[in-house]
Amino acid sequence: MPTAQITAVGTYVPPGVLTNADLEKMVDTSDQWIIERTGISERHIASPEMATSDMALEAARRVLEQRGISAEEIELIILCTVTPDMLFPSTACLVQDRLGAKRAWGFDLVAACSGFIYGITTAAHYVQAGTHKKVLVIGSDTMSRIINYKDRSTCVLFGDGAGAFLIEPGPEGEGGFIGFHNEIDGSGGDFLKMPAGGSRMPASHETIDGAMHYVHQEGQQVFKYAVRKMEDCCRTVLAQHDITIDQVKILIPHQANRRIIGAACEKLGLAEDRVLINIQKYGNTTGATIPLATADALAQGKIQKGDYVLFAAVGAGLTAGANLWRWAF
Ligand code: UT7
Repeated sequence: MPTAQITAVGTYVPPGVLTNADLEKMVDTSDQWIIERTGISERHIASPEMATSDMALEAARRVLEQRGISAEEIELIILCTVTPDMLFPSTACLVQDRLGAKRAWGFDLVAACSGFIYGITTAAHYVQAGTHKKVLVIGSDTMSRIINYKDRSTCVLFGDGAGAFLIEPGPEGEGGFIGFHNEIDGSGGDFLKMPAGGSRMPASHETIDGAMHYVHQEGQQVFKYAVRKMEDCCRTVLAQHDITIDQVKILIPHQANRRIIGAACEKLGLAEDRVLINIQKYGNTTGATIPLATADALAQGKIQKGDYVLFAAVGAGLTAGANLWRWAF
């Protein structure tokens, strides 16, 4: 069975920046509250003409450029998002066309903040099965389109961005996908959701007047689940493969709240210098946090060939997961 390896990482964030000082003028909040409670200083926001597929396309192009391959070589596009350009066609279809990935099929994967983790798990299995040689996993979210900028409890948290991994087969023994532990607990679905716009509650004057097309969150419920599951999923995947936390070079966690990451790391016994935190500059970009954090870890020289890299995320659903990889380039 071939090994699935991550062979390129590309990212894109829109140039517009929304700072905590900007938010102080929009809602009753303060730079101090946001930094102390979340760790976020600023987030990037897409301009009105930019949508999720535009950011995804930029990240995908950077992956191709980095790997030196053409779009025609891509066989599968998995696009992880909760903010598709439209419900259908899928954003994967829009990106396939504009990228010129003529031989690719693909689909959107909806797992909110755990989307990218589920995406790379899925891609790894297609590659290991031997049916696909070049799979593009993209996480792209324009969260600013579904955020209520009158709700201080959510509007300070989210930002826009995209990132992508190329996943390819590689020789055994040279690193790659080791394993995963992913979960869902649908009983917590009400804690984080966008209530309207689907078949249950289609768009109407009432849904718009009731601000139902925005993110609604019970923050503390999600917080507790996030800390618990981030630790559980990491421990489970490590135990499954007889790897200790001390062997892990770096944890790349979903960036939802600096305090969630800090608490999970404390429980895992992982010092903060072995975890990548970049929430201060991007906020929570949902499907894009993991590739954005991976790109920063690579740029900072924190990942070398052969290192054990642990990815973990928790999100709406409720969803959670961890993936263990051995870095291959
Ligand atoms: O990635 C998807 C998964 N999502 C998450 O992981 C998010 C998980 N939850 C969280 O990160 C945190 O729960 C939040 C950052 C959302 C909230 O932090 P918290 O420490 O749980 O605050 P809280 O909800 O308990 O609110 C404490 C106080 C409240 O005021 P009162 O009732 O004590 O007077 C809130 O109204 O803070 C108030 N508050 C704010 N104050 C200033 C809430 N948001 C703000 C704000 N600025 N932006």
